[in-house]
Amino acid sequence: MDKLVIEGGARLAGEVDVSGAKNSALPVLCAAILSAEPLTVTNVPQLQDVATTARLLSTMGATVERPAEHTMVLDCARLDRLEAPYELVRTMRASILVLGPMVARFGRARVSLPGGCAIGQRPVDLHIKGLQALGAEISIEHGYLEARVSRPGGGTRLRGAPIFMDMVSVTGTENLMMAAALAEGTTVIQNAAREPEVVELALCLNAMGARITGAGESEITIEGVERLHRAQWRIMPDRIEAGTFLAAAAATRGDVLLRGANPSHLTAVLDKLREAGARIETGADTISLSMPQRARAVNVRTAPYPGFATDMQAQLMALDCVADGTSTIVETIFENRFMHALEMKRMGAQIEIDGNTAVVQGVPRLDGAAVMATDLRASASLIIAALAANGETVIDRIYHLDRGYEAIERKLSALGAKIRRAR
Ligand code: UD1
Repeated sequence: MDKLVIEGGARLAGEVDVSGAKNSALPVLCAAILSAEPLTVTNVPQLQDVATTARLLSTMGATVERPAEHTMVLDCARLDRLEAPYELVRTMRASILVLGPMVARFGRARVSLPGGCAIGQRPVDLHIKGLQALGAEISIEHGYLEARVSRPGGGTRLRGAPIFMDMVSVTGTENLMMAAALAEGTTVIQNAAREPEVVELALCLNAMGARITGAGESEITIEGVERLHRAQWRIMPDRIEAGTFLAAAAATRGDVLLRGANPSHLTAVLDKLREAGARIETGADTISLSMPQRARAVNVRTAPYPGFATDMQAQLMALDCVADGTSTIVETIFENRFMHALEMKRMGAQIEIDGNTAVVQGVPRLDGAAVMATDLRASASLIIAALAANGETVIDRIYHLDRGYEAIERKLSALGAKIRRAR
């Protein structure tokens, strides 16, 4: 199994390009299922989760072409296996995103239940409830969700309906928006997720001929259409990757410039980094950060967008571990998302956990140690901790990292980090 070996102490300095967003690419690739005409997607990041999605679509019968490094052309004209098998869903929960589009276009689908997940229970009840409101019958058989639409007078088209979501769910909103795009009549989703990835998916669907308004607000209206058509779509920059580089630069008292970023998606993170003492300047698609002194401790409370993203919580904790002062970090989205803290403690971090609250007492320097990555963002936070530590850190199980960060060692090396991959 691959490991990362990091020699701490180097200041990150230089320029780095932000890749396309994983969490935007996954729903956009799944949106291709909604149309019999091809969807061309550019700025697709090269990641394990993207490869898994492409494999999933291929097993369903889609043609997936990669005419250039970051371009994919998806042709779902002939899908003959309307199923997402366990082998793929278990490696990537976001596979659930094929459910809505399949039911909407074909009136049936079979998707393995995702099962347990390292960062909490992460159920899919909101996806199910929403599809039921649109007229799908859903049962669970042998660990699979079986969805079917059969209208009294014949026909397999979903019917638009009002949907209230009990909790704000990103992929839940995305799944239901895709399903409603081809339903008969109008759907209004209330308490919808407002993440930029939801907005981007709505814009992509509209480019394919859908009629969606309100994405980015908590009420989204979808006027169903009979079919969607060919389109071309460019994936937005990855705000979490961008935030990770900024946190890494701040923790090493570095000086970096991110190119191809969207600063408006990062307001909550930039605000925290400024509070920590970073000097930040933003351009149309650039963000520069310099941290002239040791960071000050900052409190963090995760919340749905535009609040502070749970996907940045671990990285900010790494910064707080070496900051001056004591901070409180409250995780409100996932119930078991502090596993990185246990590994950071092995590096000398002073962290006390009580339920969903972590209290971090900053130390001047962490010590390199052997640690284990437990999930995607935990891996990123351990890299930041390692960069800010004395001596060598070996991070095991970095396959999590390859799910969501494109060329991370190359990008960090270019910024001066001493990082290499080992077997
Ligand atoms: C998405 C992101 C993930 C991010 C998360 C929260 C993708 C591919 N992944 O995950 O990186 O960490 O948003 O910003 O975009 N919930 C239910 N029932 C459901 C669905 C969700 O109770 O049917 C709960 C979850 O357990 C969690 C909360 O709702 O407590 C938010 O989860 P959700 O927004 O759905 O996360 P994902 O869409 O899976």
